[in-house]
Amino acid sequence: MVSKPEFHLPDRPALTAYRSLGKALGDAGLGELTPTLERLIREGFAPDRHGKLDGWLQAVAELPDVASSYSSLHRQRQALQGAAICVGGQEDLNDDQRTRLRGCLHQLMPWRKGPFEIFGIRVDAEWRSDLKWRRVADAISPLAGRTVLDVGASNGYYAWRMAGAGARLVLGVDPSLNYVLQYLALARYLPQVPAYVIPCRLEDLPSSATGFDSVFSMGVLYHQRAPLEHLSELHRRLRPGGELVLETLVVPEGCATLHPSGRYARMRNVWMVPASAELRIWLAQTGFADVRLASVTPTTSEEQRRTQWMPFESLAQALDPQDPTTTVEGHPAPRRALLIARR
Ligand SMILES: C[S@@+](CC[C@H](N)C(=O)[O-])C[C@H]1O[C@@H](n2cnc3c(N)ncnc32)[C@H](O)[C@@H]1O
Repeated sequence: MVSKPEFHLPDRPALTAYRSLGKALGDAGLGELTPTLERLIREGFAPDRHGKLDGWLQAVAELPDVASSYSSLHRQRQALQGAAICVGGQEDLNDDQRTRLRGCLHQLMPWRKGPFEIFGIRVDAEWRSDLKWRRVADAISPLAGRTVLDVGASNGYYAWRMAGAGARLVLGVDPSLNYVLQYLALARYLPQVPAYVIPCRLEDLPSSATGFDSVFSMGVLYHQRAPLEHLSELHRRLRPGGELVLETLVVPEGCATLHPSGRYARMRNVWMVPASAELRIWLAQTGFADVRLASVTPTTSEEQRRTQWMPFESLAQALDPQDPTTTVEGHPAPRRALLIARR
């Protein structure tokens, strides 16, 4: 008799946030994905995946063992909290616990997406992700009750926001382990929230991972060698009538699609940057309907900048100091389009 394969998560305290994933998938009607996602998690955290993985896992495991008395994921409260995702009150921790928490969060640097306020510790990330979320939240269908796939979810900043907006389940995927560990640090204090980021690529998901009400691909398309394949893959994951939220770099209207031969704004792996009119064509070619351009926004140093929690080069170092409308490589400066489309 052939026995059914059994899948178990690695026995690492840092990964306890995933223990509720099977139930959350079941509640959202996606229970059959559980064994495959467990396998992807196990493979994603295999010891040889990254030289720093052990240190990051250790940092999350050593987070103070306290319950948060409070959290705020919904953007209506942002005005009060300076746009941060807030977890835990200052009074939930004693001084020793606060020092330990700060140390653990420091070990997970650089923080690219944020801001977060974790038991009163302000983690000011490179990106003011709240500014993008404001543009997105105003343009999309309400998320209440929807199942969401967030491709390139990074540390889960948007996944938490989506859950705060009432999504039934948010499944984030991202192969960058550093950021997935940041997600796990937050998830440690938000055990009831149905938002997950697992360490894999969109293409690694099983073919049965379909039927999502909303699929987000933000800041991912220009990193794909084959952007139309990425769009087709996003299309496949949606239910008929489901909504795609695509956010990506564009060149000014009328410019030809840019194929950077080296870096673009100091970023590696930027393969193609089209104009938004070209993007509409790509979306139509991959089967999307009702394509809507919601916004085009030049990136500013208010939105992307070096901070204490991301001390490396940022936008200011990527622009030509003599002419900030171009990058140091001579390309048009970053601007980002937001498009909404329907399967
Ligand atoms: C520029 S960040 C964008 C993060 C976030 N979505 C945002 O809009 O701020 C791109 C992220 O996409 C992830 N990524 C790149 N290719 C991917 C793929 N094929 N599947 C899933 N994630 C991918 C990277 O690891 C990275 O964390």
